[in-house]
This record gives sequence, structure tokens and C-alpha cells, in this order.
Amino acid sequence: MAIIIKDNVFTLQTKNSTYQMKADDKGILLHTYYGKRTDETDYSYMISMADRGFSGNIYEAREDRTYSLDFLPQEFPVCGSGDYRVDCLHVDLGAGVSDCLMFFDSYNTYHGKYSLEGLPAMFALEEEKVDTLELILKDNQEELYLHLFYGVFEEYDIITRAVIVENQTNREVRLSRVLSACLDMDHDGMDFIHFYGRHAGERELERVSLFHGITELRSTRGTSSHQHNPFVILAEKNTTEELGECFGFSLLYSGGFHIQTEVDQFHQTRIVIGIDDSDFSWSLQPGDTFVTPEVSMGYSNCGLSNLSHCYHNSFQNNLIRSSWKNKRRPILVNNWEATYFDFNADKLLEIAKEAADLELDMLVLDDGWFGKRDNDDTGLGDWFVNENKLGCSLKELVDKVNHMGLMFGLWFEPEMISEDSNLYRSHPEWAMVVPGRNPIRGRSQLVLDMTREDVLTYVKERLFAIMDSANIQYIKWDMNRSVAAAYSALLPRERQGELRHRYVLGLYHVMEALLERYPDLLLEGCSGGGGRFDAGMLYYAPQIWCSDNTDAIERLNIQYGTSFGYPMSSVSAHVSVCPNHQNGRVTPFKTRGICAMQGTFGYELDLSKLSIEEKEEARKQICTFKKHYRLFQFGNYYRLTSPLENPDFTAWEYVDKDKKEAYIGVVYTNLHGNPAAQSVKFKGLCKESIYEMWKNQEPAGTYTGAALMNGGILLPIPRENYDSCQIYISRKEENK
Ligand code: DGJ
Repeated sequence: MAIIIKDNVFTLQTKNSTYQMKADDKGILLHTYYGKRTDETDYSYMISMADRGFSGNIYEAREDRTYSLDFLPQEFPVCGSGDYRVDCLHVDLGAGVSDCLMFFDSYNTYHGKYSLEGLPAMFALEEEKVDTLELILKDNQEELYLHLFYGVFEEYDIITRAVIVENQTNREVRLSRVLSACLDMDHDGMDFIHFYGRHAGERELERVSLFHGITELRSTRGTSSHQHNPFVILAEKNTTEELGECFGFSLLYSGGFHIQTEVDQFHQTRIVIGIDDSDFSWSLQPGDTFVTPEVSMGYSNCGLSNLSHCYHNSFQNNLIRSSWKNKRRPILVNNWEATYFDFNADKLLEIAKEAADLELDMLVLDDGWFGKRDNDDTGLGDWFVNENKLGCSLKELVDKVNHMGLMFGLWFEPEMISEDSNLYRSHPEWAMVVPGRNPIRGRSQLVLDMTREDVLTYVKERLFAIMDSANIQYIKWDMNRSVAAAYSALLPRERQGELRHRYVLGLYHVMEALLERYPDLLLEGCSGGGGRFDAGMLYYAPQIWCSDNTDAIERLNIQYGTSFGYPMSSVSAHVSVCPNHQNGRVTPFKTRGICAMQGTFGYELDLSKLSIEEKEEARKQICTFKKHYRLFQFGNYYRLTSPLENPDFTAWEYVDKDKKEAYIGVVYTNLHGNPAAQSVKFKGLCKESIYEMWKNQEPAGTYTGAALMNGGILLPIPRENYDSCQIYISRKEENK
């Protein structure tokens, strides 16, 4: 077992990391170690104790003025304990103030992985080495319990955490903040890496030095958001892609979140992460529990690439459940940028005909097929096929598409309601609007109250009815605004603070019901592009539309940032038309293909308008993706250059897990007269093996793995703006 317990010291061992806690003689659960794998020594000897001014002492410390929670490293710090740093729990036990003090009570361990009711959580596959530790803490006066869960994924250097708060008192307990995890480190000087952005510009990496004080990221938007991502990294100053220690924190949650770091007066660093607590309160009735979302913590002592691999592999194996996870993802054509709202069945079939000719796998019909929906002002909620617009039934359209040899996918935005819709006319109370106030509109639409049973029943009934009416194998689940001034007509005044979390639970409930009924459905997440790109969503949707920005060059940044915390098989990316619809840039068709092949590949343009040359290039792209999909979906992904640091080109690599083959994509972002030579070095190969190389499909020599990794390869000189190239190598023995 990966969990070793001795004298109230709890040591969790993964392949390369050790995590340790200790219930001390007072019963406080201290955090004693997280880092490079070590032995089970009780590391509390490293904690320095002193009588520190203005650091109060808990009553249980008696005369000992050196014992203060104001500086001790703790596993789950709570408000009201004399710890003035950012904490994890604010609970009102009845006095009207936040006050509790949690002491170690007992523990459980078992093989396998805990699950969380109603929430996404990583799981263990049979035969896998995964263990669970549950630590139970109790308030020193009241029957309030905390169950701290730890899932130890030995192979991946991943430790998951979640908390259940249990009210065993005989009265209501009010929670105003319950985060999922805290990590205390005994030093400062760390870098904080996070991924900020905006609509059409998501997940841009920023690396900052932590300073004395609090740094915080949060989304108050009801979704994980375009603006910040619930995945962050703490890294030592000298950590690079290949060297150094780093710690990842990924929240498996699609609603608002809150991440804070604090460097304290004694140069110690703390990070806390969990549900957004602005506008949050929860009434916990006697006997009730509150379950927090899960945090997946990753560790690497050999740089950021390795940390990404921990997340890529563990999410691919132990978070994504879809029956599609091990299959080649369909290469699809989506009609959104091809037609927007202006289509009928004939137009769609014209695109489908070209798609079939190019040997694509699927046609996806995007927004505008239902209710009265010829622009984005109307119709949301009326999930009835607009046969007048299509010119036939959905089944007739789907049958024709299937007959051409293509699968069919459909867009929905189930959480929304337009004021100009039959649904709103019959159920205005289903929109989350504060009574007597004017609504805050976003893209002219309102948000459905996903906390209501009747709303969930309606949404499921409509989704199922459309699904049952035709052979639909894929759904793109969109969400096109942020939640604002939200109110539920069914929750009493004092429980409105529960709305945002209950909303997320309602969303997960519908997704779960959909997947239970249609286990082979491929669900693609979307929120105006990548506004809900989080690990929670991956539990339901193995791929997520990465951004509404389809410009290949801006996508280099977006996909680069996304790659740190999420497997590339989850990054949905399409070739679109030029000039690009978002920024007007013109890039070669080939380059657009190479960028889209960084993730799950597809097209989003009117295929019937492609030139003969573009069609030829598309054929090559489709052939390349089909041939190398195992590398793209399951290979180890390396960022060879950073688009934020290298102005001339961006390069990335996929290496097959057995090191038999590898692929490098390169996109040039600058041109020079009389250019200097440019080169890249392969990573992750077998140094003794001999590899044959092809540059842009042309044979380009034979090299040892050592030469490719240490000497590198010269890149072709770019011939036009935003030129690109593909380099493929295969181990010589495999080519016999
Ligand atoms: C936003 C999505 O990100 C787009 O791809 C498209 O589906 C539109 N919504 C449709 O309204």
C-alpha cells in the first residue's frame, strides 16, 4: 500500500513523491512534507517552534507559548483558530461568527479510490495501484466533522484531495467558505504559474514571483471561465521544462473557483484552492454533509514537461470515462463558421458531400436548427427542430448524412433561455433573475435555473427526445454567457448563497443522465470556446472546444497554455477559412492543418468552397491525422519552444510511449532576409535507436536517438509568412 501510518504520522508514497501529515500531541493535523520521494521519517522535526509575538496559542497548548497555528504548517486550516493566513473553512456553529477548531479523530484506509456523490472525481482502473486515506477531524466542542480524503495514484505522481463536512450537531450549521485543499511549504521564493485570458484568447501562461502577501485568482462567473483557469503550478525559481521541482493543482470543477497563495511573515508559502466563496453560503442541516470538488495535485522533480505528462496520462486514464477515450476521435466538419445561422438541409448536405469525398468522419450541425433561431437573440430553450428552416425532418437529414458514410453531431446550449422563446413565455420563473429587478443579459440570453427539478426534467426530456429522433453520435454542449445577479425562485432568501454550486450540481446531473442513457455518445464541451475548459468537464466530455479563436497563430498560444494541465486529446481544434473570421489574418492552409492536428482535428469552413489545391492539402492532412492519431492522442507531448519566448517559430513534439516514433510540428511566426539557421532538439527518444526521418513527407536521413536529442535537427527555411513543417521519425527496426 502507498499509505504508511505510524504513530499518527501519515506518509503517502508515489513513484517520485512523498506527502506527509502528522496528528501532533494536541491533535492538530500538521502538514510535514511534500516533495521528492523520501522515507517515512517523521518530518515534523523540521518545524521551528518559538514564542512569536502576536501569534496566539490555542487553549490546548496550555502554558506552551511556542505553539501557535499562526505559523504551524497545517493540512486544513480553519478560520477562528488564531491562524491569520488564508484558510479553508469558515463555519458558523451558531454564535454568528466563524469559529471552529478541528482535531484529529480517526482514520480509514482502503485499496481503490473514493468517489464523490454528484461530482467528478478521478477513479482507479482494476489492477491499478491506487489507495485511499480518509482522515477524520472533529471540532473540539461540537459534533462537526471533516472527512479529508486522499487518493494516491502511485504511477502518475498524483494525489487527489476532497473534503466532506458533516453536521452531527442537532442544529443548523452555516458554511461560508469550504475549500478543497491547502498546501503549506516551509519556504518562499517560489514562482506561481497560471493561465489567464479572455473570450477568444484563453489560457495564456503567466509566471510571477510570489511576494509577501496574498495572490489570488478567482472566477465569480459561475463557470471556470475564460479569464482564469482552475489549474495552477507552484515552481521553484530555476524550474524549466526539463529541470527542477514543481507542484500542480487542478480543481475538478466547472463553476466559480478561488485560488489563493500567501507568503507569510516567516517566509512560508501556502496555497488554498476550492469553490469560489464570494456569494457562497450553505445551510448544513443536522445529519447533512457538504462535499467539496476534488483537487488533483501533481508533482515533478524534473521540470514542467514531466508535470504535464503526469496530468495528461492520469486524466486520460483515470478521469476521462468516455467510450471514445481510446478510439480515434472523429475528424469532423462543423458548419458554424461556414454558414452561421444561414443554412438549410441542402446547404448542409453540400458540405457533407465534400466531407464524405475527403473521407472525413462526421458532420456537426451547430447553432440555429431549433425553435425560432436565425440570430443569437431568440429561441434558446425551444429544443424543437425547425423543419421549415431545414426543409426536412432531422431524421431525414441525419439519414442522408449517414448514407454518405458520415456520422452526425448536433449543437445544444441546454442551460440557456431566450426571452423571445416559447419556453420563456410559459416559464419566466425558470430564468435566474432577481424578482423585481431587470435582468443582466449576456449575448441577449438568460440563464436557466439549473437548481430546479422541473427545469432539469425539461432539459433532459428535450435532449432525450431529440437524441431519440435521429442517429446522433456527438453533442457539442455550449454555454455562452457568465452567470450574473443569479436568483432562484425556489430557494428561500437565506439559501440563495447555495445557488451557484447547486447550479453546477444540476449541470453535472444532466450530463451524467445523458451519458448514462447514451453511453456511446461523444460529448464535446464548449463555453463560447474555452470558457469552461477544466478537469471537471473532462469527466463528462473527453474533448472541449478550446477557443472561438480559430486563427492558427493565436491558437499557438492558446494551445500552448492549455497543454500544461490538459491532455492534447481534449483540445478540440479546427481548420477554418482565411482571412480568419476573428482577426482577419491569412495563413497557409497547410499551417492551419498542422495547428489543428495539435489537438482533436477537424474543419470549420465551407468545404464546397475549397480550391483544388486546398482540397489536395486537406486530403493530405486527413491522411496524416488518420495515420498518426495514436501519436497525437496518446503520445507524450513536449513543448519544444514557447510562443511567448521564441518570436521566430513554435515547435512541439509527440513521442509514442514505446519511443518507436515521434512527430514534430513547427509553425514559423517571423520571416527574415538572409536568415540564420534554426534548429530543434527531439525529446524523449531512445538514444541507442536508429530513426528514419521524413520532413514534410520527404525522406530526410537516418539518425541515432542520441543525435536527434543532443545535436538536434536543422529546420527548413520558411518560404512564406506563417509557413510550417512536419517532421516524422520512425525507429528503423519498425520499418523493416
Ligand atoms: C459559441 C461556440 O464557441 C461556437 O463554436 C458556436 O457554437 C457558437 N457558440 C454558436 O452560437
